[in-house]
Amino acid sequence: MHNNEKIDKEPLTAIFLCGTLKNVNEFSHTKTMCEFLAKHLEKHNCKSEIVDLVEYNIKPGLKIDEGEGDEWPGIIKKVMAADLVIFATPIWWGTYSSLIQRIIERMDELNDQLLETGHSKLSNKVGGIVISGAEDGVEHVIGQICNFMSWNGITIPPTCSLSYLGDYPDNKEKLLKQFEESKSIKNMAEVMSHNMVYIARLLRKNPIPEVGKGTMQCVYYHYTTARWAWGDLNSHGLLHTLLKRTRIPIPPHAHIY
Ligand SMILES: Cc1cc2nc3c(=O)[nH]c(=O)nc-3n(C[C@H](O)[C@H](O)[C@H](O)COP(=O)(O)O)c2cc1C
Repeated sequence: MHNNEKIDKEPLTAIFLCGTLKNVNEFSHTKTMCEFLAKHLEKHNCKSEIVDLVEYNIKPGLKIDEGEGDEWPGIIKKVMAADLVIFATPIWWGTYSSLIQRIIERMDELNDQLLETGHSKLSNKVGGIVISGAEDGVEHVIGQICNFMSWNGITIPPTCSLSYLGDYPDNKEKLLKQFEESKSIKNMAEVMSHNMVYIARLLRKNPIPEVGKGTMQCVYYHYTTARWAWGDLNSHGLLHTLLKRTRIPIPPHAHIY
């Protein structure tokens, strides 16, 4: 079998980081949407795990491991092993839930590593978003999450989100039936699954080359440590953004290609 054909059939894995504030025994619209999308992904040989963030002790902080009792290290390990990373959230007062904000903060160390080395540990993963709401704010939330994912090395495919705003029935079975019967929701889930899996397999065949290595050595100012540093950067644009934000002139010995 040609190698590409083999990759096309290889199983993929998805992790849903579900930010509903409801506990596992309650009926959550967001979690039900995750389950609906997971079924569509399964048709493409992509197995999903839904992580109910509310059930874990995810300590506040910016590090991957915030010490005793912190359960984020176990979750981030699963993120690292997955091909698809999906953030799922209800909309609370126009934005994502506090649990999604918490995990974004907890991924900060990965962003620091990216700035220091030019390499993202999330590179070649495909991102997706699931949103449940009642009436408004969905595009704003998609924008916020896409911005975070993209700047941290996750690839965003076309049709990267499944969202529903409106009324809900009183139980999970009825909601799944409602989604199944809704042409637009079903179509969104089908196209999203297809595109995510397609891009994940493309990336397996063609991992994004590390632009930084060897060719983009730069002197740059690292905000977190408040020091000048020497290292690889993954993009020309990133260097300029860093230098502009710090309002510090580019040192004469910096090499910008
Ligand atoms: C306090 C509160 C604020 C909300 N804010 C919004 C909002 O800004 N926009 C929106 O579309 N829905 C809003 N909603 C509706 C929820 O997003 C919606 O019910 C969601 O599906 C809940 O998901 P869950 O069942 O997983 O908790 C709000 C609901 C509550 C109770």
